[in-house]
Amino acid sequence: MPCRLVVLVSGAGTNLQALLDAAADPAYGAEVVAVGADRDGIEGLARAERAGVPTFVHRLRDHATREEWDAALAASVASYAPDVVVLAGFMKLVGEELLTRFPHRVLNTHPALCPAFPGTSGPADALAYGVKVTGATLFVVDAGVDTGPIVAQTVVPVEDDDDVASLHERIKVAERRMLVDSVGAIARDGLTITDRKVRIGP
Ligand code: GAR
Repeated sequence: MPCRLVVLVSGAGTNLQALLDAAADPAYGAEVVAVGADRDGIEGLARAERAGVPTFVHRLRDHATREEWDAALAASVASYAPDVVVLAGFMKLVGEELLTRFPHRVLNTHPALCPAFPGTSGPADALAYGVKVTGATLFVVDAGVDTGPIVAQTVVPVEDDDDVASLHERIKVAERRMLVDSVGAIARDGLTITDRKVRIGP
């Protein structure tokens, strides 16, 4: 049985597309069973629809409290019985309900080398700081902001003439490869965490 993935997105969905493309090969070991979002009208949802994958949307502003939004999101995710939940450009902090339902099974990809530059503007913050290398981090989500145990990291150079868009695009090329490789390995072999150290393997 392939590993069941629910992917949450907020934007272009190129990381989602990389997972959809990889999962087309049965040897990959995972399938995207649903895609959720926190907003309508995004290319990430269109990518899911074109692939014939069911979608759901929960907008924060449609809920009285953040807890209610988190509970609704968690219920929709759970209805697809995922083995792993992947936040792929999901620009909201998920809450306790989702993390409690899927302990150590919610992964997030972040466009910086954690613990540097957490939050929603990783590439801009790295560029402003003047670092010479940056990259992307795949981690197991915990209650903090981009603080969870690290599954994988990938490094790219910062070029002298970079702007935020060119740097983020270079990161995303490496990020998609890291995400596809790591999620596939986790799907096939599983994951254990000991003292923050993540190990993929049986
Ligand atoms: C990715 O670079 C992802 O790491 C980032 O948004 C981009 C989404 O691209 N996420 C964050 O910044 C979360 N803090 P995509 O929609 O094309 O996959």
